[in-house]
Amino acid sequence: MKSSAKRMLSQASKSFGMYEAAAKLQAENNDADIIHLEVGRPSFDTPTHIKEAAKTALDNGVVHYGDLSGSLPLREALAARYRQSNRVDVGANEILITNGVTQAAFSALMTQIDEGDEVIVFEPYYSQHNSKIELLGGKVVTVALDRNRHFRLDPEALEKAITTASKMILLVNPVNPVGTIYSREELMELRAIVLKHDLLVLADEVYEFNIYDGNQHISIASLPDMKERTITVSAFTKGYAMDGWRIGYAAAPENIISQMRKITMNDTTHPCVFAQEGALAAVTGSQACVAEMVTEDRRRRDLIVERLNNMPGVQCAHPQATLYAFPDFSAWGIQSDKLAHDLLNETHVAIESGAFYGNAGEGHLRMCFGSQVYDRLEEAMDRIEQYLKSQTLP
Ligand SMILES: Cc1ncc(COP(=O)(O)O)c(C=O)c1O
Repeated sequence: MKSSAKRMLSQASKSFGMYEAAAKLQAENNDADIIHLEVGRPSFDTPTHIKEAAKTALDNGVVHYGDLSGSLPLREALAARYRQSNRVDVGANEILITNGVTQAAFSALMTQIDEGDEVIVFEPYYSQHNSKIELLGGKVVTVALDRNRHFRLDPEALEKAITTASKMILLVNPVNPVGTIYSREELMELRAIVLKHDLLVLADEVYEFNIYDGNQHISIASLPDMKERTITVSAFTKGYAMDGWRIGYAAAPENIISQMRKITMNDTTHPCVFAQEGALAAVTGSQACVAEMVTEDRRRRDLIVERLNNMPGVQCAHPQATLYAFPDFSAWGIQSDKLAHDLLNETHVAIESGAFYGNAGEGHLRMCFGSQVYDRLEEAMDRIEQYLKSQTLP
């Protein structure tokens, strides 16, 4: 039999990290009470008014093919929100509705990246983006964030990584896995480099609604001269607890959006029509549901940050945003992969190894505090603390 296409040798064939290890443990030991902090998804149910809107659409026969760009009312509502909240002047023709950020980012890269083009990715990174770049024959060039300042942007390191083949910077903001938000100063420094080297930006803002303590999320497309060279992708996934709905969107200049539409229409035609009706209710309805979920996630964040900082050999910065804490366990002198496996096997708490997000994440673990209710998080912290106290810190 002929072998698979060469592109399948890339990142895309890598594992799902601790998720697979936890599933294997569960299969081997049916009774294991595993607490899952490795998967990055909200614990909440989708707010009722959003579900009702999708149900009503179904009952009203919204079951046929729709607009290839996504529903016009949804694009108009998103464009209005971009203008008002993100301060980016976009119209409905500059929005494309997609199956989550995943499809938005993939189609964006499909339209911009040729074989050999370099895409700069900050590390620790969200590795699925790297897979996409490599599937397209692009080259991932990683630039480490400054771990001495809890993973802030290092403009000098960025400048050094730029070559004549550099085409794009992939900016995840707020940052999975480290839980930070780029400040206006950082974004202005980034902007200066982008303009100097005539680069594009793919801005993944999927955590723009998961923000704590009054921190401000700034869309890089809102900075002067950036709209023309930025493709912003976001989704209902994390902020509205709609990860399974698979509704996201891209905002970009119309010529790029129309290219992206050629990709998505060949790929999925368009996203599910009645799911888009639910998404419309999410944008146009009360945003109190988002605020309530953020309030509860902040309480969970505070719990685990305080508990972790009281454990031997652990330091944990306060995440400004996202659903993740990225504590530093390097004082234990154990490779992150091994520590994550030890914790899974000994405590049945599944946590992602920091090294899963690239070498810059070594010494850390990523814990999703948004995926479990408060009591379960307390239980997870009890188990980890007990385990660490039974070990000898070097
Ligand atoms: C940074 C980042 N981008 C994109 C995604 C995927 O988003 P979606 O489910 O909307 O495709 C995730 C999910 O964890 C993520 O963390």
